[in-house]
Amino acid sequence: MYINFWYAAELSKRLEDKPIRVRMLSHDFVLFRDSKGNAHCLSDTCVHRGASLSGGKVKGDCMQCPYHGWRFQGDGKCVKIPSLGPGHKVPPRARVDAYPTQEKYGIVFVFLGDLEEAKRPSIMDIPEWDQEGWRGEAMDYYWEANYERAVENGLDPAHNEYVHPTHGYSGENEDTSYKVGELKIEHTDMGFGFMLTFQSPPLKNPLMRMIRNFDGDLEAGSGHHGPNHMWTKIHLTDTKWFHQYVFETPIDEFHLRTFLVSMRNMILGKWADKTVNGRNFVVAEQDRVVIEKLRPVITPQSRTKELLMPADKVISLYRDKLDEWNREGWRIDAEAVNRTRAKGDMVFAIPGPARREHKGWVLDPVPLIPGSDAEESKVRAVS
Ligand code: FES
Ligand SMILES: [Fe+2]
Repeated sequence: MYINFWYAAELSKRLEDKPIRVRMLSHDFVLFRDSKGNAHCLSDTCVHRGASLSGGKVKGDCMQCPYHGWRFQGDGKCVKIPSLGPGHKVPPRARVDAYPTQEKYGIVFVFLGDLEEAKRPSIMDIPEWDQEGWRGEAMDYYWEANYERAVENGLDPAHNEYVHPTHGYSGENEDTSYKVGELKIEHTDMGFGFMLTFQSPPLKNPLMRMIRNFDGDLEAGSGHHGPNHMWTKIHLTDTKWFHQYVFETPIDEFHLRTFLVSMRNMILGKWADKTVNGRNFVVAEQDRVVIEKLRPVITPQSRTKELLMPADKVISLYRDKLDEWNREGWRIDAEAVNRTRAKGDMVFAIPGPARREHKGWVLDPVPLIPGSDAEESKVRAVS
C-alpha cells in the first residue's frame, strides 16, 4: 500500500449531511460535506483523546468530535475547544491531518499523502464520462483480497479463458491452437496498457446477444494508472464497446473495496442499466472466488516464488512500476503498523500536505519503507 496517490473513498451519492467513516490504507478517515456541499476528508482520530470524529456531527463547516465537542475545519485546524470557555485561544497543535479531495465520475476521491499539489500523481482519466453517445455510472463492491492481486488480475490476459467462460473459451478447447497473442504494450508515465484479440463465443444473455451473436474475434485489453487505478476495454464488435474503469481502494493489505465505473456506447437507455450492471457483478464474482483464495494473500516480494510465463509479462511490468514507487519511499511499512497496532497503545496518521508547513503534530506519521535514497545512505553509513 502506498501513500501519495488518489484513492476512491465513497460514492458521491452516499455522502450527504451525515459524516461517514472510511477505512483506507489500514487507517480510519472521516468524510463530511460543509455548508456549501464541498466534500472534506480528515484523519478520523481526534487529537484530544482519540475519539472517532465520524461519530460526531457536522456543525457549519466543521466536524465536531462526539467526545468533548472540539470542532475541526475541513483543513484539519481545530477552531473550538469548548472546555476552555468563551474567547479561548486554540493551541496550534490542535490539528488533524486533512486530505485534498476531488469529486468526479460520481466518486469522492481523496489524496492520501503529503505531496504538494504540483507533484501529485493524477486520477485516472475517464474521457467517455461526459461524451455524447456514452453512458455509465459508478458502483462499488468489497473483496477479501489484496488490492495489488486484484489489479494484477485485471491486467492478466490469460485468465479470461478459464475464469470468464462468457468471454473466451478456446483455451479450454483441446483441439484449438490457443495461445495468448503478442501484447502490444504502450507505456504512460503512470503505467501501461495493451489491446489483444481474443476468440469469443456469441453472448448468452438475450440483451447482449442483440449486440454480439457471432463466434470470433473480440478486441479487449487492460492497463493501469498508478498502483490502484486500472481500465479494461472490451470491444464486442467494431463499434459496440464497453470501457470499464476500476479504482481499487485497499481497506488494508487483506481487504479491498472496488469502485467500478462501467461505460458503454450502446443500449444507452436507463432501462438497460440493471442488466449491464448485473452482468458486471457476475463477472466480478467470477474473479472474486479465485482472487480471494490466492496464496500468499499479498503478492510475493520475490519473483522466484512464482513461475511466470510470457503471458505474465504485464504482471512483471506492473511490479516494476510498483518498484519505482518503492524507490520513492511511498510504500507503507505494513508490518511495522501491524506490530504497533497489536500493542494497542499508539495510532498513526497518514501524513497530509499540511505536514510540510506545520510542525508539532500530535500523531506520528505512518511508518514507510525507506526509498532507494535512504537505502543508499544506510549502505554508505555501514561501509
Ligand atoms: S476526544 Fe475529541 S474532543 Fe475529546
Ligand atoms: Fe477477470
